[in-house]
Amino acid sequence: MIHKINEAAKYIKSEIKSGAETALILGSGLGVLAEEMEDKKIIKYKEIPNFPVSTVQGHLGQFVFGSLNNKQIMAMQGRFHYYEGYSMDEIVLPIRIMHKLGIKNLIITNAAGGININYNPGNFMIIQDHINLMGDNPLRGKNLEEFGPRFPDMSEIYNKELRELTYKIAVQNEIKVVKGVYVGLMGPSYETPAEIRYLRKAGADAVGMSTVPEAITANHMGFNILGISCITNMAAGVLPQPLDHKEVMKIAEEVKLEFSTFIKAILKEV
Ligand code: HPA
Repeated sequence: MIHKINEAAKYIKSEIKSGAETALILGSGLGVLAEEMEDKKIIKYKEIPNFPVSTVQGHLGQFVFGSLNNKQIMAMQGRFHYYEGYSMDEIVLPIRIMHKLGIKNLIITNAAGGININYNPGNFMIIQDHINLMGDNPLRGKNLEEFGPRFPDMSEIYNKELRELTYKIAVQNEIKVVKGVYVGLMGPSYETPAEIRYLRKAGADAVGMSTVPEAITANHMGFNILGISCITNMAAGVLPQPLDHKEVMKIAEEVKLEFSTFIKAILKEV
């Protein structure tokens, strides 16, 4: 594994002029930010040795290096999901590489279903904590000592200062923001109404199929992590109508400008 990580990181280093301090994982339909970056250098996943290739509709598969608000950023346009069949090692390879590139801050975005009945589609949720119900853990197997300890503490995965700063920025910019717990499931089927009732009782506010592996891995390596969910729909059973991936993409599309304004405002302060 280490060899694979080093080989991929070496290739990326050879392609970029300058590094970055902050990485940004762009979720479903939220890739617009990458388009706004300046002095861009695009590296397609398929060029990178040992790299898996993203298969989901609406997801490009590339890193975009460049500046946004005068901050050097490494953006991931397209990520790997467990439901696509990738192994945990494949899903978190980009996160390991970020560490090799000297990146310290990670902003993870995703699309999620609202479990909390006070939420509305189009809200942004600052992830306070998560529940891992994916049935797997990216740190399973031999521990990579150079990255972090065997049994990492998980008491504050999502950095408290970044969460507070983000909340303040949202209020200043009149962005509809909520704070909550994200639960990560394997997917690809959406949840049943009974599962949503169960998850609500368990303390979850929003549900999705990503983020948890990346956050566990970045936490293992001591990153400052910020997670933001775009609530694209109410979870199954909350409203009478069935769930539709097209609706999820439609809301993501509708809020993308607000989302990019929000992230840019955060980047200014990070
Ligand atoms: N469930 C799981 N993942 C999701 C949802 C949902 O309702 N919406 C967007 N991603």
